[in-house]
Amino acid sequence: MSQRVVVVGVGRVGLPLALYLADHGHEVTGLDVDPSHVESINAGRMPFLENGAQEVMDRVRATGRFRASVTTEPVGEAEVVILTIGTPVDEHLNPVFNALEKVLASIGPRLRKGQLLILRSTVSPGTTEYVRRHLEATTALKIGQDLFLAFCPERIAQGHSFKELPKIPQLVGALDDESRARAAAFFRPLVETVLESDARSVEIAKLFCNVYRYIDFAIGNEFMMLADQQERDIYEVLRLVNSGYPRGGLKSPGFTGGPCLYKDGFFLVDRTPFPDLLTTAWKINESVPAYLIAGLRERMGSLEGKRVLVAGLAFKRDIDDARNSLAYKAIKVLKRYGAEPLEH
Ligand SMILES: NC(=O)c1ccc[n+]([C@@H]2O[C@H](COP(=O)([O-])OP(=O)(O)OC[C@H]3O[C@@H](n4cnc5c(N)ncnc54)[C@H](O)[C@@H]3O)[C@@H](O)[C@H]2O)c1
Repeated sequence: MSQRVVVVGVGRVGLPLALYLADHGHEVTGLDVDPSHVESINAGRMPFLENGAQEVMDRVRATGRFRASVTTEPVGEAEVVILTIGTPVDEHLNPVFNALEKVLASIGPRLRKGQLLILRSTVSPGTTEYVRRHLEATTALKIGQDLFLAFCPERIAQGHSFKELPKIPQLVGALDDESRARAAAFFRPLVETVLESDARSVEIAKLFCNVYRYIDFAIGNEFMMLADQQERDIYEVLRLVNSGYPRGGLKSPGFTGGPCLYKDGFFLVDRTPFPDLLTTAWKINESVPAYLIAGLRERMGSLEGKRVLVAGLAFKRDIDDARNSLAYKAIKVLKRYGAEPLEH
């Protein structure tokens, strides 16, 4: 059934989702506070690289089922509103809540009876409860009776949205049965599997997925340093560990950054008295650029005046997103040693 859907925050997550929904028959408006972003979308240009996105954009624009807007009026006309704004950490690595507060302040007055509000950004445990409290305090709407609220996190790997959106089980968490049922019904025609639970379990599940991956990469980096200490090549050791061994699967070392993995652990360690594994993973991953450049200095001597090519500035391969990329940390360290980094 075609519905009017507003996706609030058409960035790396929101735009592919908005296009996917429009491609599946919904009437979609993407809202964003960035006018240049909205302009680019309305001119039919993908503002960033995402496999297959330009084709989907061309297709849905031809149907008239997709447009972008800087104003919040479309929220009032929608049946479903999905929040996909960024949820960063600040310079002290504390989760920043005011982005969510701001978006609720801007769309809150437009929300009306019967709508389904889906939180899709990655959030701290308890955020869905916070949103319910906030909306019940600032509007006349009661969650579960007037307005239906669910947390349905995005779990795609950037660059692979269109391949993964239909395949990845969609987690649906809510604070009441009616909201959960409505959110599950919305996603069921769009994905192969819907898994329903309470909101907090889903909030934690999303964070555990990312943090597990981040720790897994930290083990790869730690093992690189241990192999180095034994004067052995980590890739040779990985070949021995992973070849044909059913309990292998060690990750290769590398720069582990990006806007998600880097920060999501801090949503969990915020209030815990036992954060060591998570924060140690962060320390290991963040130390890799300096570690590699120390190795370079050992082999080459002083880097003063030497030109060093840093190739690959995005935080992972085949995308154009350099947010929280450790390549920039490497460039900073190189400059500190007097080298002349060339960026590509
Ligand atoms: N990037 C990923 O691969 C990925 C994967 C899964 C989950 N997530 C999560 O999804 C969320 C979004 O991440 P992203 O990478 O798409 O971020 P992004 O910065 O690319 O996109 C967020 C968009 O929201 C807009 N925005 C901010 N405040 C707004 C407001 N008040 N009203 C309207 N628009 C507003 C911004 O201008 C931006 O275009 C984050 O919580 C992130 O952790 C990201």
